Amino acid sequence: MQAFDFHASLQDCEVVVIGGGTGIGFATALAAKARGARITLIGRDATKLKAAAIQLGGASISVADIADRASVEAALAGLTRIDHLVITAGSLLAGKLAESDPDMLLKALQERIAGPLYAIKASLTKMPGTGSIVLMGGQFSDRPAGNGTAVISAAVRGIEGLARALALELAPIRVNVISPGFIDTPLFDVLGAEGRQTVLAQAAATLPVGRVGHPEEVARGIAFLLTNGYMTGEVLHIDGGGRLV
Ligand SMILES: NC(=O)c1ccc[n+]([C@@H]2O[C@H](COP(=O)([O-])OP(=O)(O)OC[C@H]3O[C@@H](n4cnc5c(N)ncnc54)[C@H](OP(=O)(O)O)[C@@H]3O)[C@@H](O)[C@H]2O)c1
Repeated sequence: MQAFDFHASLQDCEVVVIGGGTGIGFATALAAKARGARITLIGRDATKLKAAAIQLGGASISVADIADRASVEAALAGLTRIDHLVITAGSLLAGKLAESDPDMLLKALQERIAGPLYAIKASLTKMPGTGSIVLMGGQFSDRPAGNGTAVISAAVRGIEGLARALALELAPIRVNVISPGFIDTPLFDVLGAEGRQTVLAQAAATLPVGRVGHPEEVARGIAFLLTNGYMTGEVLHIDGGGRLV
């Protein structure tokens, strides 16, 4: 029988996490590093990235805004090999259509659809056939919330279609989506301390598991998608049962 890697190693793999300075991306970097990978973190804020790299015990860092094609290309240009590309970059760009500028709302599409296209395009020639890509989806794909996140819903639904199509187009490179429910991360800091607490407490109260998720729980799912060579075109939900209620 062929030797099988039950320990899900990423030994000596080059893993790039765009959005890896905090939250789910940072937890993913920790999970990948623990499995033997070398890590490159990309985000907009150099201070955050430096702090994350120190906490990781070493990582390369590069500053880029995923919505800005030139900066994404520049950040990836210095890398010679990318085994796995994980894209968790995204912010809470929300607002009800009646009260908001559509162009502001559309920035969510620029970050979540255009950004991954720029990053994948700039990575392809550096990726071996054994490589993989994980894109960020979200529960609003299946359960829109009516709270000003309509364009985010469109983006995360779109990401699922994009990943399934690219799984065919880029094969044998694998392309998957991780789709979290409510996860306790700095994403909600824009709401202020009270707003953040209210949103997360309300979510926790409705969930079958009775709490919101931890970024490490999502990172374990991403590590699974990176290391299981038979997974492609899949959407992995880690949502505490959020799609059911
Ligand atoms: N937390 C949840 O409940 C939840 C649920 C479903 C989906 N998600 C999605 O999961 C992803 C990760 O979020 P998180 O919860 O881990 O929150 P987070 O801690 O705020 O992580 C987002 C990271 O992306 C970076 N980022 C944001 N906009 C960027 C841009 N335009 N270009 C490059 N980097 C950018 C941020 O760093 P800089 O600000 O330094 O750039 C930050 O490190 C997001 O796309 C989020 O929408 C989160």
